[in-house]
Amino acid sequence: MKTTSVRCLGLALLTASTFAHAAPNCTIRLKGNDAMQFDLKTATVSASCPRITIELTHTGKMAAQVMGHNVVVSQTADINAITAAGMKAGAAAGYVPKGDARVLAATPVIGGGASTKASFAGNKLKAGGDYSFFCSFPGHSALMKGKLVVTK
Ligand code: CO
Repeated sequence: MKTTSVRCLGLALLTASTFAHAAPNCTIRLKGNDAMQFDLKTATVSASCPRITIELTHTGKMAAQVMGHNVVVSQTADINAITAAGMKAGAAAGYVPKGDARVLAATPVIGGGASTKASFAGNKLKAGGDYSFFCSFPGHSALMKGKLVVTK
């Protein structure tokens, strides 16, 4: 009977993953570490999501003042301007310029062992647009960035 139950489990997993593919993805789930890296180079979400949630976990041990990470979403062309403005805004502002329309979404900055979230309306994104996610902590966006693919 052992083989039968294993086969059933396999079918259940296959069915679950088929359903997961059919539904639009509305979550950007990222991990940042002490080596200044995100675990993903690409994430995909749908512009049809009522809300898109960013979930960030810092898997390292270093403090937020030294190895802080956040996730900012913007058009790819705006990354450098946002990181420059974020550096001016400083640590108290989470290295994100306040009221800057180029910032489509941003989580707070966290340190090792912490997790954070932010959410924004899916209709802020256009399917097929050129978007990125990145960390706006000073000096991090060179390594800590990836492409945000937006589907319909
Ligand atoms: Co960072």
